[in-house]
Amino acid sequence: MKNHLNEPVTIAVVGSGYVGLVASACFAEIGHSVICVDNDEAKVRTLQTGGIPIHEDYLPELLNQHRGGRLEFTTDLRTAAQTAQAIFIAVGTPQSRTGSADLSFVDAVASEIARSIDSYKVIVEKSTVPVYTNEWIRRVIERNGVPKDLFDVASNPEFLREGTAVVDFLHPDRIVVGAATDRASALLKRIYEPLTSGEYYRGDNRIPGPRGENELPPLLLTSTKAAEIIKHASNAFLATKISFINVVANICEAAGADVEEVAKGIGLDSRIGNKFLRAGVGYGGSCFPKDVAAFRNVAELVGVDFGLLHEVEKINEEQILRFFQKVRSALWTFRGKKIGVLGLAFKGGTDDIRESPAIEIVQKLLSEGCIVSAYDPAAEARTKETIPPGAKMRYVDSPYAAAQDADALLILNDWSEFAELDLAKLHYTLRYPIVIDGRNLYDPATMTEHGFTYLSVGRPGLSQPVDPITVFHEPRKRGRA
Ligand code: UGA
Repeated sequence: MKNHLNEPVTIAVVGSGYVGLVASACFAEIGHSVICVDNDEAKVRTLQTGGIPIHEDYLPELLNQHRGGRLEFTTDLRTAAQTAQAIFIAVGTPQSRTGSADLSFVDAVASEIARSIDSYKVIVEKSTVPVYTNEWIRRVIERNGVPKDLFDVASNPEFLREGTAVVDFLHPDRIVVGAATDRASALLKRIYEPLTSGEYYRGDNRIPGPRGENELPPLLLTSTKAAEIIKHASNAFLATKISFINVVANICEAAGADVEEVAKGIGLDSRIGNKFLRAGVGYGGSCFPKDVAAFRNVAELVGVDFGLLHEVEKINEEQILRFFQKVRSALWTFRGKKIGVLGLAFKGGTDDIRESPAIEIVQKLLSEGCIVSAYDPAAEARTKETIPPGAKMRYVDSPYAAAQDADALLILNDWSEFAELDLAKLHYTLRYPIVIDGRNLYDPATMTEHGFTYLSVGRPGLSQPVDPITVFHEPRKRGRA
């Protein structure tokens, strides 16, 4: 692909996790020279030799295209920091025991950058960090003897969703740049110019997405503190939306209404919007649970009562328990029951199982004595590290293999293939035609027509806790083809 920029920027990205790797590939894609740094030698070797450590749409194409050209991988932070004009910090900020973000990786990287630089640099926080982190990075660098005029610290939070991270990066709703000086904001504007000017969207080989020449992404310039808060507040708000609709779903279930209709009715109000109103087993992943806790912690530190976020977390935890109760109500007892499970990752489209509701449910099923046959298109390898295969836990390679002779099938994440099952085949594959859908992928009426006992979240009919006697005495209408 041709270079999109008259004046490409040399960028170092420290950290090759989801955020760092996607940012590196995408900065290269829009024309910059990128040095992606990680202190994990094995990972860097993998990346240098064509390996791709995560499942992410378009990432293999971008890495293959730019590796060895505009994109290089190294463990040498010192040289990268000296060479680059902008250094993005994209290391992990895991949750500490108190719920606050553990910033020790950010601190270590800031110190090392300070020891390396000998010309003006913009150091950019990309990791999700609490407000004041920018201030701390500045202090750490100054304490290491770097003169004030040799660096700026900016904040440029990411809003990438796993699974669609490349498209989210190249076709963003917005780009947020928190900077205290014109010098820093000018460099960041230059970095994003291929997107904000539309130059990237005019290219022939661009990654397709919602943005285009007539739909340019806005770049919002803010203070560094506002940028830090924008990131935490965005994730906390989205998590709140999910918990909100999950409680509404529980009300619908009790009242005999359909939460899908209710969500549609709410979402058509443009002040509310229709996104992130899908009821289910609750949110998971490496971001929402950690960021809600971290933002709650930030509020506490600055003396603000954000009890709402406690409720959001509580509702999310209870949502899994409610779902588990639903499974129990359909099966009566668990010991020795064979359960098919579709979905292990925290959502479809990714291999990430961190804080996955599906993993929690599978672990509960196993502890109750069930035999689980699980299928996920991408997350099997990662799940095996947490739940090794054995007599009680089998990994299979198709939804039908998971359903084979099972007492019930559970749908726990939203891979598109789970919504396109051959229902007749599924019916004769299962031992009992019971489907318990934690993601509302099917229409209850269609499932009933196909002879299933179908339980989902927040919908009438058989999504009510069922009378187990009725379920087990229902004649099985299946027959092997
Ligand atoms: C989230 C945010 O959406 C990104 O904007 C942000 O950049 C990212 O965190 C981050 O901070 O790095 P991600 O965790 O990849 O992205 O996944 P989401 O698509 O947001 O889903 C999070 C969880 O909420 C999943 O478990 C998903 O199944 C669940 N969810 C989502 C629902 O239960 N209902 C919905 O309507 C939407």
